[in-house]
Amino acid sequence: MGQVVIIPVVSEAAAISSADVAGWFDAEQGLLDKKIFVDPAIYALEQQRIFARAWHFMCHDSHVPNTGDFFLSYIGADSVIVVRDEQGVVQVMLNVCTHRGNILTRAEMGNTHSFQCTYHGWNFGLDGKLNAVPGTEPFYRCKLDRERWALQKVAKLESYKGFYFATLDPDAPPLHDYLGEVGRIGIDQMTAHGELEAVDGVQKNIIECNWKIAVDNLYDWYHVNVTHRSAMRVGFVAASVMQPNQQMVMLGEYGHAISGPGISQEQQQVIDELDDAERARLDTLSFAERAALAPRLTERRPIRPAHMKEVMGPVGVRAMGHPNIFPNLWISTRALQLSLRIPRGPLKTEVWWFSFVPKHYNAAQRRMAMKFMSHSFGPAGLFEQDDGENWAHATRAALGPASQRTPQNLQMGLGEDEMVVDPSGQRAIETKVNEHAQRWHYRCWQDWLRAASWQDLQRNKTPVPAGKV
Ligand code: FES
Ligand SMILES: [Fe+2]
Repeated sequence: MGQVVIIPVVSEAAAISSADVAGWFDAEQGLLDKKIFVDPAIYALEQQRIFARAWHFMCHDSHVPNTGDFFLSYIGADSVIVVRDEQGVVQVMLNVCTHRGNILTRAEMGNTHSFQCTYHGWNFGLDGKLNAVPGTEPFYRCKLDRERWALQKVAKLESYKGFYFATLDPDAPPLHDYLGEVGRIGIDQMTAHGELEAVDGVQKNIIECNWKIAVDNLYDWYHVNVTHRSAMRVGFVAASVMQPNQQMVMLGEYGHAISGPGISQEQQQVIDELDDAERARLDTLSFAERAALAPRLTERRPIRPAHMKEVMGPVGVRAMGHPNIFPNLWISTRALQLSLRIPRGPLKTEVWWFSFVPKHYNAAQRRMAMKFMSHSFGPAGLFEQDDGENWAHATRAALGPASQRTPQNLQMGLGEDEMVVDPSGQRAIETKVNEHAQRWHYRCWQDWLRAASWQDLQRNKTPVPAGKV
């Protein structure tokens, strides 16, 4: 371990050192300090060093198609407005009135000509400019500098294939580089199904858990046979689908990863060898119809549109698991859904579910997709109700001083597997059920917390491994 550096971030009373950060996760042993789920000082450090620094998903192009369309989102604790301005350009600004800091709009989405604060009536344009101030002449004596008090914009805003991301840090790398191959494959899994449109509304609910437990769980294919047994009993999914022992893990820079089932090169070969007519037909099928074909082609894994190999690469196309774009954007691959796990204090996470449907779906395909999406995750989903219980209990138990004496065990597959680099340059671990992605998540989480700046993070981040893992 290198030099111990004091990180003067949280408060003078609660300075955290790089040695503290190093102690929270032992990657060599796969042991995790449970304090990281409940400690307010660690939470404050995450807000500053991860959430105020990373790129965050805001919304999709189709959430704000017209001038004046707006959509509320969050960057960590900061509420932000995504809006399409009069020039047709998407903007993201803080949802905070610059006068006395009131929240500007409470509607979660809609269409407007301007934003008017409910406190004293300051009025802001779609481009964030301060348009009108009650009492400009009689009270402010015409001395208020309106340009100075425009809404605060995010440092950077970019879109990848229609998915808008923003960051508060001007030193963040371009979005394309931030996502890297693994993050881009995550989004490509959505866009490869054709032009998408967002389904109205976002399902939101609060689970009394630490956000990291919810993120860790999306990589976890160990729990499904136990936690989700009820879903299997009612016939919602088959056991073989829920815990396939043919797993693939891809790790990306900054903590992105994909973990879960994969199909072998031989199985992919079957898809590659389809004739043109079969490939063309495959691309017109809905997700569920394609899944029904799967036993013949890939032994129960849903098969992808034929052109996805060109987009995702020869290794990426075989990774059927769950991608997470660090820190907290899960792309659900069994349906076209995205989930944000937004921290609301160390002991609370607000879970958002965005659902999408390809524009080319007919009414029956759309109905089937919607049914599957609303019954899987979200507050009414069979899976997340089961998961949420475990996450909340694990968080609550971590508050106990005696419980904190025993670390969490993240040792599955440690030192047993190999990250293989394909001739294409793509790399993946192909193995059984494992905890490689969880360990990667916490290693990178430590990198973020230790780094004083983006430059520092880029210089000192853990490289994506090759060879034994
Ligand atoms: S706080 Fe918004 S107008 Fe005063
Ligand atoms: Fe689960």
